[in-house]
Amino acid sequence: MEASFGAKGSCTMNILEELRVRFRPILAQLTSDPESYLKLLRPTQDERLGDYQADLAMPLAKALRRKPREIAEEIVAALDVADMAHPPEIAGPGFINFRLRDEYLEKCLQALLEDPRLGVPPVEKVETIIIDYSAPNVAKPMHVGHIRSTVIGDAIYRTLRFVGHRVISDNHIGDWGTQFGMIIYGYRHFLDEDAYKKNPTAELARLYRLVRQLIDYQEAVQKIAELEGRLQAKEQELAGVSSNQTSAAATKMEDKKRRELQEEIEELREELEELRRKRAAVEDNPTLYEWAKAHPNIEQDVLQETAKLHAGDEENLRLWREFLPHSLDEMNRIYRRLGIRFDYTLGESFYHDRLGPLVEELVQKGLARESEGAICIFFPDIDTPMIIRKQDGAFLYATTDLATLRYRMETWNPDAILYVVDFRQSLHFRQLFAAARMMGYDRVKLVHVSFGTVLGEDGRPFKTREGDVVGLESLLDEAVRRAYQIVCANDDAKPTGPELSEEERRRIAEVVGIGALKYADLSQNRTSDYVFSYDKMLAMTGNTGTYMQYAYARIQNIFAKGGVDVTTLRKLDGPIHLKHPAERALGREILRFPEAIQLVLEDYRPNQLTGYLFSLANRFSTFYESCPVLQAADSEERQSRLLLCDLTARVIRQGLELLGIEVVNRM
Ligand code: ARG
Repeated sequence: MEASFGAKGSCTMNILEELRVRFRPILAQLTSDPESYLKLLRPTQDERLGDYQADLAMPLAKALRRKPREIAEEIVAALDVADMAHPPEIAGPGFINFRLRDEYLEKCLQALLEDPRLGVPPVEKVETIIIDYSAPNVAKPMHVGHIRSTVIGDAIYRTLRFVGHRVISDNHIGDWGTQFGMIIYGYRHFLDEDAYKKNPTAELARLYRLVRQLIDYQEAVQKIAELEGRLQAKEQELAGVSSNQTSAAATKMEDKKRRELQEEIEELREELEELRRKRAAVEDNPTLYEWAKAHPNIEQDVLQETAKLHAGDEENLRLWREFLPHSLDEMNRIYRRLGIRFDYTLGESFYHDRLGPLVEELVQKGLARESEGAICIFFPDIDTPMIIRKQDGAFLYATTDLATLRYRMETWNPDAILYVVDFRQSLHFRQLFAAARMMGYDRVKLVHVSFGTVLGEDGRPFKTREGDVVGLESLLDEAVRRAYQIVCANDDAKPTGPELSEEERRRIAEVVGIGALKYADLSQNRTSDYVFSYDKMLAMTGNTGTYMQYAYARIQNIFAKGGVDVTTLRKLDGPIHLKHPAERALGREILRFPEAIQLVLEDYRPNQLTGYLFSLANRFSTFYESCPVLQAADSEERQSRLLLCDLTARVIRQGLELLGIEVVNRM
């Protein structure tokens, strides 16, 4: 049968979805749950077998108590895919394999030439989706954990928008917490007025660090005594493990015990070392040391300043209003550099007045009740209750989140709210979501898009030598500094044009450095911990942002070298030929962009997109090595290959844009 390209075979779409459309009615005759079986239709693992495979005959046969091969044959007989694929083959016990027709792929690619969406269909049902991400605690240095939330959240935001949802980003910043008590305390006692006048942000940051040091010091002094005691006990225990056992089993037990003890001792020593560093930091500074001796409980004093602020104390409120804009400026400067913006930034302070009445209401409705002086929400299936008002009357993070949820429901009536937050808060979100259901919000989809910890190359949470969690800014600077070296060293992708000016190099380094940092984060399965490594993220090969940007620049270089004007090229409308296997493999990969987007949104995993882009760039490499473009055999072949280059570049560019990463034409 001849391939046809009727309405059914329309090409600007997701090929995998189109196959599912063809399968669906047939499966519906066999089972009441076709969707779960349709998931077993996917790209082939082994390309020699074709392009897509359906592994659904076996489980279906089991459910129906029939022979899998028989089922596979029945499905294939009923299936009409002749316009897309060669007759499906049944392999082994009942795998159905599809090989797409070259003409179909060619037509689909041609349709992309004029499709600004590169084949990604807009969603049929537009949803209102709120996405809560980044949310740093302002006035504290932003750190590497916040970059994860920011970068992952931004990629999900962009992707949801791209497919046509109504998406609202809301940055739930911590602008009302103890850090302000700390700064107020620092301001009262340690302010350097000249410095404050000259650069208020820097002075406030200094005050924050200083008060942090004092609090850490007092905590360290207490803990050191306790840990030293524990260390001594462990050392004695270790010395007491005798080694004159007779039986082999007993010796083995002892070895194990000894190793365990040694490990514990090692950990205690490290912890002590860190605490001693904190102690020394203050002891080496006479002013701070005197202050700490004269004020035995600084943490308590800071809490009091915070409590006064929350209670509406005029002076503290005035100071808070004075400080906040500086902290926000600092934060926004980093967002600008990262190319990130939010639709709303309704921080914790925005909800302050709503907390009291909300707690009252929840008590009145019987959803919350008093327990040991605090007000709590209890859940039938979660062991720990959610405290929403402490004994001393203070409200908590959870109370604010409940008020925030209500505000969002009343203001935007969303279909979904996504919270892109560290996995350590998973209990908090389970409680929050359960409480939301109790409050009657049972239609909205609530998702904790959680992510793992950023580790250093030693496998521990990422920290600098001084023991501080790295400030985000210094992280960006370092990535850009290294990218600058790459830009200066690498001349492979540079067209035979004029030298890059210093200014251009700086700009490219900024794009490449920040792109590498973002990509490194996004290319990880978000639920795993990931190891932060400048060398890895800026590598020119492998699944890195730098490699992707390089692939893009390389294609632009082909155009520059050949004097190709892409706008004219695109208007030519093909034809595109997929004669060489590398051309076909590249063409088919280009057409999988919609599938990658779909996978990202299924489970909010941007690494599905980076994985796809990496595979696309690899196919491009193979193509470029085996198929001359500018030196093609004839003009039709040259044009077809140039179009494949252009489509590849467009998909890379669009893909990176969805990840919040820019491209450069030269690097
Ligand atoms: N500020 C919080 C933190 O740094 C994150 C807030 C996340 N969003 C939320 N609605 N709870 O841990």
